[in-house]
Amino acid sequence: MELQGMDNLNGKTLSILFFGDIMGKPGRKAFISMLSSLKEEFAADMVIANGENADDGSGITPAVMNELFAAGADVLTTGNHIWGNEDIFPVLNRESRLLRPANISSCVPGHGSGLFEHGGCTVAVLNLIGRVFMPPCDCPFQQAEEEIDRLLALTPIVVVDFHAEATSEKQALGWLLKDKASAVIGTHTHVQTADESIAREKAAYISDAGMTGPVRSVIGLDPDKTLKAFRKEIPMCFYMAKGECAVQGVHLLLDAQNGRALKITRINRPFKTRKPWKS
Ligand SMILES: [Fe+2]
Ligand SMILES: [Fe+2]
Repeated sequence: MELQGMDNLNGKTLSILFFGDIMGKPGRKAFISMLSSLKEEFAADMVIANGENADDGSGITPAVMNELFAAGADVLTTGNHIWGNEDIFPVLNRESRLLRPANISSCVPGHGSGLFEHGGCTVAVLNLIGRVFMPPCDCPFQQAEEEIDRLLALTPIVVVDFHAEATSEKQALGWLLKDKASAVIGTHTHVQTADESIAREKAAYISDAGMTGPVRSVIGLDPDKTLKAFRKEIPMCFYMAKGECAVQGVHLLLDAQNGRALKITRINRPFKTRKPWKS
């Protein structure tokens, strides 16, 4: 579905593809296989994807990160699962294209935001994480206010990945940033929502971009094993689901001069595998 905002008055636009959490090897395969055709279809200047689950459902390794960059991802955002594989910790400090949430302890490695040059524009990407039903972190609203003012002094284009569980918390952050951000995109639940909107002030919004991963699953995990874990109250392990995938996310069309959202389009494309995945 495509939602159109205000007309573009000055003609120059910026086209950004944003993909929801890439889930394990099946999700990577779907993302890598379909990215070039989606970039062509939407004439994308920039690709942002959430990579917190890209390594077998939890975390991301340096090799997996490089695989996603080589496939065409320009920036990888993350969330609570960025800490699932410690091999990535030293990389977080030196790889500016890999972000972790900004509103966590300054003791942890990495960066919560970055500036990137695409389509003749400077694009700021800010990664935040929620506090409702999530591990402890600093206030995302306070951090958002501090960071976005700093970033807006450098560029009018700021795309926010708000990695959070509660729709109410996501909508509240969207409201806070409606006149400052170009887009506030929710991630983490792995379920795409149908509430995309464009604020009259500036920002595009969706509560969750969805997941790039196995469809016949419980948020990307093996459904039988996950059901068993719930019924037996056994602490969850990550067993990736297999089979057909969907590539989910949004396309953003922005006014390149003032960062205002012109259009947001949900993406939900099937990716059929020829044979079941071996984990
Ligand atoms: Fe996730
Ligand atoms: Fe998450």
